Amino acid sequence: MKTAFIQIKELTYIYHLGGPSEQIALSGVNLEIKKGEFLALVGPNGSGKSTLARHLNALLLPFAGSVLVDGMDTRQPENLWEIRRRVGMVFQNPDNQIVSSLVEEDIAFGAENLGLPPEEVRARVDEAITLTGLSKYRNHAPHLLSGGLKQRLAIAGVLAMRPDCLVLDEPGAMLDPSGRRELMSTLRKLQISMGVTVVLLTHQMEEAAKADKMVVMSEGRPVLAGMPVEVFSNDRLLQDLGLELPVAAKIARRLSRRGFLVPKNIITVEDMVSYLCR
Ligand SMILES: Nc1ncnc2c1ncn2[C@@H]1O[C@H](COP(=O)(O)OP(=O)(O)O)[C@@H](O)[C@H]1O
Ligand SMILES: [Mg+2]
Repeated sequence: MKTAFIQIKELTYIYHLGGPSEQIALSGVNLEIKKGEFLALVGPNGSGKSTLARHLNALLLPFAGSVLVDGMDTRQPENLWEIRRRVGMVFQNPDNQIVSSLVEEDIAFGAENLGLPPEEVRARVDEAITLTGLSKYRNHAPHLLSGGLKQRLAIAGVLAMRPDCLVLDEPGAMLDPSGRRELMSTLRKLQISMGVTVVLLTHQMEEAAKADKMVVMSEGRPVLAGMPVEVFSNDRLLQDLGLELPVAAKIARRLSRRGFLVPKNIITVEDMVSYLCR
């Protein structure tokens, strides 16, 4: 049984829009994220995904309720440094995350800011470069890389800080399909080889289908959670939220309606291939 790494209890967050107007972005969220788990967070626009993600490394603090990271309360100022070191954030637009004119310097930036000795920084940069497959590019200019490579660079910079958990807010949004596939396999590799906990916010149901666990948000709270195959069995609720099934699941449903005996647990292309080739 994996232990909880992040515990969210009755988390409520309200944006104050000036004057009396406010927007309740999260209302009474309860959620546990286990160590080493690959969690996909999905939901319509405005459902509170980004607001929730920003609570995981104390970029936002609860209006009510609490967020504990490895037992540390994000509201305690003395925990901030440790929490930020343990939980790294990667955002949608890789261009906004570039801080240097050389790939290896860019990756070193966060680790240097931890005040580590130079040889330790170098070792971590080498490790992050290897893990993200950026060896060929270490002396390149970041802004000239492709979108997919820039996003891997952003991940490498966070990895050099050796976080326990990576939170990625729609990191594939600016990438083409092959860039997104590469990103998914990089994340899986990090989870398996380094035991990194991955929290992926995504619009792509194909990506969510490959996670260990899925949480579906709607109007500021989780409305469905479980293994992807369980979550995708709630066709009606997902449809009501305007969320599509993964393509493989849609095809499986159609085949089944035409009388083929297709198992209900097909949600990825790989599932479909192994069913068709059985
Ligand atoms: N900086 C902000 N100021 C005011 N309201 C915001 C801000 N960011 C998000 N919101 C509002 O909070 C709600 C949740 O938004 P968000 O967390 O960005 O959802 P998602 O990431 O799922 O699209 C939405 O109603 C959104 O309009
Ligand atoms: Mg968002």
